Amino acid sequence: MPYSLAMIPGDGIGPEVTSAARQVLEAAGLDCTWQEVAAGQVALETQGNPLPPDTLAAVRAADATLKGPTTTAAGKGFRSVNVAIRQQLCLYANFRPARSLPGIVTRYQDVDLIVIRENTEGLYSGLEHTVVPGVVESLRIITAQASERIARFAFQTAVRQNRHRVTCVHKANILKLSDGLFLDSCRKVAAEFPRIDFDDCIVDAAAMKLVTDPQAFDVLVMENLFGDILSDLTSGLVGGLGVAPSANVGDGVAVFEAVHGSAPDIAGQGLANPTALILSGVLMLRYLREQEAADRVAAAVHSVLAAGKIRTGDLGGTSTTSEFAAAVIEAL
Ligand code: NAI
Ligand code: MG
Repeated sequence: MPYSLAMIPGDGIGPEVTSAARQVLEAAGLDCTWQEVAAGQVALETQGNPLPPDTLAAVRAADATLKGPTTTAAGKGFRSVNVAIRQQLCLYANFRPARSLPGIVTRYQDVDLIVIRENTEGLYSGLEHTVVPGVVESLRIITAQASERIARFAFQTAVRQNRHRVTCVHKANILKLSDGLFLDSCRKVAAEFPRIDFDDCIVDAAAMKLVTDPQAFDVLVMENLFGDILSDLTSGLVGGLGVAPSANVGDGVAVFEAVHGSAPDIAGQGLANPTALILSGVLMLRYLREQEAADRVAAAVHSVLAAGKIRTGDLGGTSTTSEFAAAVIEAL
């Protein structure tokens, strides 16, 4: 039976990179049907709702979803569609690997770590209010249930991928109750996995160590905001936002998207690097247990990057989004 996949083209560079990734997945021989559904600014303009109920239903029903970035205005307008999708479909785990890529020269050549970000609560609970004019309160929700769930996901990932250590990143020295609970939850789950080492690191020190000694890390688990920030940082260790994939995973529902946003500064010009979304497609193939196709797409991307002839502007080249996708398809 063909896989039934949903596709959200999204805003800005979203349609360009999702189209490139879709062509690559099809060229890899993935037997699937695509249901294209709208979300973000484009859905607001065409359907009067940034996250139409039909879109949520399609994502819930699909075997997996490939999603382009969606725009969220700062300080005004509708609440983030990304946060809403993750919360409403309970996509509690955000999986963001950062691995050095062949041919991409950065300060480090052998980075191989995974940021696992709690995806449903923390400061992204959206509970903000004005107490009195000039004073605003934002609630940072941490629960034992969600903390243990993400810790278990991190340890299970470590086991599945033959990794050795899970590091809990936190600020429990200051946020004694909330991050104390997060750290205690990780410690409790660590006891269930005696063959995986466990340690913890305060978030500011973790940021410094990540840029000076990234090879010291293996699997990192953290709450929502820390994961958002540090996963952009770790993408910078391996070539930037143009190459950083991610997966949002729940029980039986999964959405694969790049770490980057809709990049309005380069949208509609064929300048976007589709690598991040193509590699998100590789994560989707692995989730669907299509390991052979996943390996082939990853190898094709690596060979094009290693050859260095076809590259988008963010990596110092002059190729367009579709030229890069065509080169990957050729390599396949
Ligand atoms: P951004 O990630 O869109 O862009 C940051 C910088 O990276 C820009 O200079 C952009 O040109 C560059 N960049 C990003 N992706 C690239 C790619 N594939 N190839 C080449 N260059 C790339 O972040 P920004 O500007 O903070 O956010 C723009 C919008 O995206 C906002 O509305 C934000 O809310 C939204 N956003 C959406 C996300 C999602 O849908 N998952 C994630 C992050 C932001
Ligand atoms: Mg982010």
